Amino acid sequence: MSHPLIEKFSRAGQAHIFAFFDRLSPEAQRALLAEAAEIDLAEVERLTRTLLTKGATAGIDLEGLAPAPYERRPEHGGDVAAWTRAKAVGEAALRMGRVAAFTVAGGQGTRLGYDGPKGTFPVTPVRQKTLFQVFAEKILAAGRRYGKPLHWFIMTSHANHAATEAFFAENKCFGLDRGRVHFFRQGRMPAVNFDGKIMLETPGSLALSPDGHGGSLRALDRSGALDLMKREGVDTLSYFQVDNPLVRCIDPAFIGWHVSRQSEMSSKMVPKAYAEEKVGHFCTQRGQTIVVEYSDLPMEVQRETDASGQLRYLAGSIAIHVLDREFVRHIAAGSEGVALPFHRADKKIPTIDASGAVVKPDKANGVKFEMFVFDALPFAKNPVVIETLRADDFSPVKNAEGVDSPQTCRDDQLRQFARWLHANGAAIETDRSGKPAHAIEVSPLFGYDADSFADAWKKLSPPPAIRDGLYLA
Ligand code: UD1
Repeated sequence: MSHPLIEKFSRAGQAHIFAFFDRLSPEAQRALLAEAAEIDLAEVERLTRTLLTKGATAGIDLEGLAPAPYERRPEHGGDVAAWTRAKAVGEAALRMGRVAAFTVAGGQGTRLGYDGPKGTFPVTPVRQKTLFQVFAEKILAAGRRYGKPLHWFIMTSHANHAATEAFFAENKCFGLDRGRVHFFRQGRMPAVNFDGKIMLETPGSLALSPDGHGGSLRALDRSGALDLMKREGVDTLSYFQVDNPLVRCIDPAFIGWHVSRQSEMSSKMVPKAYAEEKVGHFCTQRGQTIVVEYSDLPMEVQRETDASGQLRYLAGSIAIHVLDREFVRHIAAGSEGVALPFHRADKKIPTIDASGAVVKPDKANGVKFEMFVFDALPFAKNPVVIETLRADDFSPVKNAEGVDSPQTCRDDQLRQFARWLHANGAAIETDRSGKPAHAIEVSPLFGYDADSFADAWKKLSPPPAIRDGLYLA
């Protein structure tokens, strides 16, 4: 066996990935070589050297760490005029067609225990619309409202790309113009064992996994999405995760804060509900804005309170951002000093032993490397963090039961629909948490936020009676 790639891997001390090569069919050999060609050996070597050595997991540097400032909502003492101005600026950007939506949907949905692309999971209370349908209809409705249909970029993974595309095709893109819905795959990284050796999943395939949502910046560039945006006059990307149907996919005030501050990357925060809540924290350190993950910030720091008894590290990240197109290009280029760092996650990785037999580990046997999109923040000029109302922006589906589950998400959608109805004078019975007595649903095509709902409601005469199964479309 001789092949330039095999020689290259040998020189890097990774020849073992071809240990079974001679036993593979020609087709399987080609497949393994194709996987190997995806790997940046210098990057793997660098990560092994920096992240695998002792002390690499020593925890974060707390020196000079402080809570990041943020723009408070008007309800919480923020400047009403500044929010009004921001909204007008955002609406103008939308009318000019400067904005596109961007969803990261490459995750594996392991915690939810759902087999299939997470975006195909049904979430709404009456019609059981899927996550993808909810986003599609919000994007469609926003395009109609501002007179400019939006482009929507969806990042998938190798594992769910084909199924995601097929789902949209079957559903005719939920009414969106097919030419404006763009799918692209994120990159993959090999898992390594604790000695830095690339792991095989089977004799003919590597243990590869998605490179994290931070990989979305590289993938946007590599897929040609940034060039397409440029040709179309789009310079602003509204970024959100696939797990959160409450998200305001297109939020004019948020876009306006970003545009008017000439920010390269902006983010939304919610006040953490309790100290242990599993969200990232907006912080500053050495003049930069950073997000520190819940798993990295010591619990005693997460529990610190100020003189009024409020959590000091209050600003929780809900993974909603606005990104400037050329900033994404800059980060994707990964020039010295501006590349996103990789994080190490020790995992149980299905693999094979020296004889080629399957090994299902019962404890962590290797390391996966992932990039996080919020690690771009420290490189951004003029980053803005704005407060948002949790009830109107954040109720993710992450777990099968308990917190952040289909049930909590359904209840939060019901409360939102009830608030909109109530604000417009409808008589709707709710419990003390604001949850309506009846299962109701508002289609995003009727109203996707308080403003669009109010406009649509006004046109109904007479307004419908509130009853179980009421669906406003
Ligand atoms: C994430 C954030 C956390 C934030 C919380 C809010 C990280 C590390 N943490 O936590 O700061 O407070 O959401 O809900 O992100 N994805 C990909 N490709 C990947 C990995 C993930 O596209 O390789 C996508 C997933 O499809 C999902 C999103 O990224 O849309 C979040 O991934 P997940 O791993 O579920 O993040 P959390 O731990 O929930």
